[in-house]
Amino acid sequence: MIEPMNEKIEHTLACMPWPARVETVAGSAGTKACAEATTFKFLAVDDPRVRQYAERVLGTYTLGPVEIDISSSEAEAMPSVAMDESYRLSIDEGVISLSSNAVWGALRGLATLAQLARHDHLFVGLSIDDFPRFAWRGLLLDVARHFFPLQSLLPVIDGLAALKMNVLHLHLSDDQAFRFPSAAYPKLASAEHYSLEELRTLVRYAANRGVRVIPELDMPGHVTSWLNAYPEWGSESVAPSLRFGVHKACLNPLDENVYDAIETLLGELADVFPDDYVHVGGDEVNSVWWRRDPVIAAYLKEQGMTTHDLQNAFLVRVCAMVGKLGKQPIGWDEILHPDMPDCLVQNWRGATTRDRALGLSKPVLVSASYYLDLHYPADIHYGFDPEAPQSQWIKQEDALQDDPRLRHVADGIEWTKQWRAESTNFTGDVKVMGGEACLWAELVDPDVLATRLWSRLPVVAERLWSPASRTDVESMYRRLQACWLSLPEDPELTARLRLQEMGFDDAQIALLFLLEPVKWYGRLLGEQALAARLAGAEMPKARPYQADTPLNRVADFLPPESMAARRLDELIPVDAAMRIKDLIAVWPDAKSKGELSAVLAAVEQGADVLLSLEAGACNVAEALGRLLELDVPYGEYVAAPLTRWRLALQTFLAESDGNPQIEQ
Ligand code: ACM
Repeated sequence: MIEPMNEKIEHTLACMPWPARVETVAGSAGTKACAEATTFKFLAVDDPRVRQYAERVLGTYTLGPVEIDISSSEAEAMPSVAMDESYRLSIDEGVISLSSNAVWGALRGLATLAQLARHDHLFVGLSIDDFPRFAWRGLLLDVARHFFPLQSLLPVIDGLAALKMNVLHLHLSDDQAFRFPSAAYPKLASAEHYSLEELRTLVRYAANRGVRVIPELDMPGHVTSWLNAYPEWGSESVAPSLRFGVHKACLNPLDENVYDAIETLLGELADVFPDDYVHVGGDEVNSVWWRRDPVIAAYLKEQGMTTHDLQNAFLVRVCAMVGKLGKQPIGWDEILHPDMPDCLVQNWRGATTRDRALGLSKPVLVSASYYLDLHYPADIHYGFDPEAPQSQWIKQEDALQDDPRLRHVADGIEWTKQWRAESTNFTGDVKVMGGEACLWAELVDPDVLATRLWSRLPVVAERLWSPASRTDVESMYRRLQACWLSLPEDPELTARLRLQEMGFDDAQIALLFLLEPVKWYGRLLGEQALAARLAGAEMPKARPYQADTPLNRVADFLPPESMAARRLDELIPVDAAMRIKDLIAVWPDAKSKGELSAVLAAVEQGADVLLSLEAGACNVAEALGRLLELDVPYGEYVAAPLTRWRLALQTFLAESDGNPQIEQ
C-alpha cells in the first residue's frame, strides 16, 4: 500500500526552516528518478547572483533541468528589510520549477531545493509555496570578545543563507576590543581588526546571498577599548581590559568632541555598510562615572535629570546623526525611555522589554529567548514565540527554573527576573519586526564557532521563518540533525574532530558526547562570581576566563546539547547502562581524565543505579533518589543521561504509583 503522501512528508521531509505551505499530488509517493546533470534555465531574469548560488549549492547533484522564473526585472542591488523572499517550488518528473518575484526569493528557493536534494527528498508532485513570517531574521556575532577573521565569517554567511536567515549583526566594539579600522581615529582599532577591504568583501559576499550586514558600535558604555585609545573622551581614565563582565567605562556625554568623533565614525561605517540600519548599542551603561564626575553631576542636578535621562539625551543626538546619514538606528532595550527617539529596539532582557518598547510605539527585534551562548538545548529556544502574549512568555521563562536540565542554574534564572520591573502587557498592534539569535563570544573563538552556532541556530531560523503553528519538538529534533548536513560544518562532526585532535579515541568520544557544558553563565562567571551575583553583591574580578584564556578544553568543544544522550533513549535503559559500562571499561584510567574524572564517575554510578534497579537490588523511588543526587554539575560539566534517566523514572513513578511527590 502506498503511504499517504502528506503523512510521509510530514514525517520525513528534511526542510528546516519548514516552508509556509507544502502540498503533494495525491497518490504519488516516489522520488524523482533522474541521473541527468543539473542544468539551469532562466525563463525571465537571469541574475548572476542566482546563477552562481544555484551552481554552488546544487551543481554536484543530478537533478536534470531546473527552470528558474524570476518575474521582477527591477534589479535590486542590495538586500533590504523590505526584500521579497517568497518563492514557489514544484518537483515534476521532467522538470523542477522555481519561481519568485525577486532575486531574494529565488535564493531562498534554491536553499530549500538544496536541502531536498541533499536528502533525496525530491518527491514527484511536491509543491512548496513559501514566504517568511518575519522580515528580520538575524544572527548577532560578537567579534569583539574574540576576533573572527574574514575567512571564518564567510562560511557563517553561507550557513545563514542555507537557513534563510537574512541578517548578520556584527558587534564590532566592546570593552575588550575595537574591530573597525577608523581612518580618522586610527588608534581605536585593536591589534586584530578588519581592514576596510575585508569588510567590503564580507558585505558583497553576504549581499550576493541575500544577507544584510548590520554593524554595531556599542556606546556610551562598553567603551573601555575606545578610552584606551582616546582617554579624552571619558570623564576618567581606564586601563586596558581583557576581563569579561560589565565595565564602568563610559563616554563623556557633555563633551562635544565625543559627538564629533561619533559622527565621524558613523560616517565611516556608512561608507562600508550600505544597509539602512546601524546599531548604536546602549546596553549596560554603568552610570557610576557620570554620577561621580563633578561637572556631569552638577549638570544632572541643574537640569533635574537622572543618568538614564542623560543616556537618552545622548541617544537623541546619536540617532539624529544616524538619520542624517539616511539610516535608521537600532539600540538594546536599555534605551527605553518615555522621551526616546525613533529607534528600533532590540529586546534582550526577558519578556517585558518587548512590550515596553511596543507600548512606546517602537518596532522591536526579539532576542531575549535566543541567546545561544547560554548553552541551552534547542527546544528551549524553539519554544519561545516572538509574538507570544507577555503572560505566556513569562510563564515559559518561569518554567525554565523547573526544567530538569536547568536545575543547576535555577537561581541564576531567578536573578534575571529583576528585568521584569516596569512591565506593561501591551495589546496594541505595533509589529515585532523579527528577531536575532545572539552568540556572545566570551567563550567562542573560530575553532569552537561551528559547534556553538550550528547546533541550535537552525531552530531559531525556523521560529523566525516558519508559521507560528510549527511547534512539534520531535519533528524539530529530527530535522535539526538532518539540516546540519546542509550547513558549512556539522556541529557534531566538528566537535568530534576537535576531540580527536586532543587525543581521544572513538570510545572515549562516545562517552564525552554524553556530557554537556553547564548552562546559563555558569562557565563564564565561575563558582565565586556566580554566588556573588546571586547574593546581589559586587562580583569578584577574578573569573575563570578572560579574553586571552585559551579555549582548548573538552568543555569548549562539546556540543551544548548532547544528541548522543537523546539517541541513548532509543535503547531500553538497561542496554543504555550496559553500553556506558562497556565504554568506561575500555577507558579505565580515571587519573588521566583530570577535570573529567568526577563527571565520568557520576555517569558510571548512574549506569550502576539502573543496573541495580534491573537486578531488583533497589526500588524505583530509591533509584530515583540516587540519580537526583548524582545529577549535579561537576566543574564545568553536566551529564545529560543522568537527567534523562531520572526524568524517565519520575514519569514512571508518577504514572504507576498515584503521583508521589519527588523532591527536586
Ligand atoms: C547584551 O547582552 N548586553 C545586549
